[in-house]
Amino acid sequence: MNILILGGGGREHALAWAVMQNPKCDKLIVAPGNAGIARIAECAALDINDAGAVAEFAQAQAIDFVIIGPEAPLAAGVADRLREAGILVLGPSAAAARLEASKSFTKQICDAAGVPTAAWARFSDAQAAKAHVRARGAPIVVKADGLAAGKGVVVAMDEASALAAIDDMFGGAFGSAGAEVVIEEFMEGEEASLFVLCDGRDILSVGTAQDHKRVGEGDTGPNTGGMGAYSPAPVLSQEVERRAMEEIIRPTIDEMARRGIPYTGVLYAGLMIRDGQPRLVEYNVRFGDPECQVLMMRLGAQAFDLMHAAAERRLAGVRVNWADDHAMTVVLAAKGYPGAYEKGSEIGGLEGLPESSFEMCFHAGTAEGDGRIVAAGGRVLNATARGASLREARERAYAMVDAIHWPEGFCRRDIGWRALQGG
Ligand code: AMP
Ligand code: GLY
Repeated sequence: MNILILGGGGREHALAWAVMQNPKCDKLIVAPGNAGIARIAECAALDINDAGAVAEFAQAQAIDFVIIGPEAPLAAGVADRLREAGILVLGPSAAAARLEASKSFTKQICDAAGVPTAAWARFSDAQAAKAHVRARGAPIVVKADGLAAGKGVVVAMDEASALAAIDDMFGGAFGSAGAEVVIEEFMEGEEASLFVLCDGRDILSVGTAQDHKRVGEGDTGPNTGGMGAYSPAPVLSQEVERRAMEEIIRPTIDEMARRGIPYTGVLYAGLMIRDGQPRLVEYNVRFGDPECQVLMMRLGAQAFDLMHAAAERRLAGVRVNWADDHAMTVVLAAKGYPGAYEKGSEIGGLEGLPESSFEMCFHAGTAEGDGRIVAAGGRVLNATARGASLREARERAYAMVDAIHWPEGFCRRDIGWRALQGG
């Protein structure tokens, strides 16, 4: 098969790496890709948010199957356009992608389907929103309704910060994403993520993970896209995962189908778990980045068969071949990230790194110039490893980190600390 992956981060490098190992893959193109992806697949310059351009490109290249990595092309209707053109695609329609693009849409689905989640209310003016906050008190959570690149959420531990967040959002800090604001009950517990393939009707868990969103060790400092992740997530025990599938994912997928917007693609459920009870924090309509890297490391070549089965709507009866293993990924980022950072610094030591089904350094923001690999983004590399225990996976991942020579970069040294402390 000829396969096209849309995206150019560590998530897409991991997807490409897994897909390339499957004998069903004859040709792989990644658009736009990055310097690491370019070593294993063809990279193409393409505006991946332009549905017409993507469909035209896929037809010209005789692509049989498209895997969409990030949310922006999904929200822009790229999956719809490909389906209209008769091309198989993994990714929800724009209408179904509202599970990520609109927080109030998701909350309405949850209410209709009886999915356990935080109590909520939606506001289109600051006065009413503030009155609600004053009535409820802190802690409380204030969210811009639309897509705000993961930044439109303020978990306010006191009333003053909640009121300030409301002013910021209605003041245009998040553009049109903040035209409506959702205010939620603050949920306590431990967060973990569940990744599920959906074919419109059937669902299949493809793994659990936990990430580290804060830039600093001990989970301190500003939020990032994720500084590292590990799989499985100990808090998502078999029993908690079963409950999440039955009480959260199943009713959501049924409700979407009932409304005539069947969900096909990857559903990423952010969960809050307390006393064995999972509640939904949010949905994303794609794999997480860097969570995808640890999932692909554990699934290997079968990841392609699972994604293909979901796209072809034949997930019923499909099983994942699980090994009793653990994976960890450590993000190397440019100094300054998530604030301002420099691009263009050279990264050394990559040539000598091991590449196997146990260890891979996935590229995120890299570029190649004059035969040198240089940093081209905030999150730049993902040292990813697998082992019989999380401790073993961590040793392998940090051994790769230590073999990389990049003075302009940094990473957290404590990825997985919570899980490792617990056993
Ligand atoms: P979201 O973009 O909705 O995932 O929110 C970002 C982060 O804010 C989540 O990963 C949680 O850590 C936190 N968060 C969001 N909603 C809530 C909530 N209702 N209660 C507690 N924490 C929340
Ligand atoms: N790592 C979080 C995300 O991909 O949204």
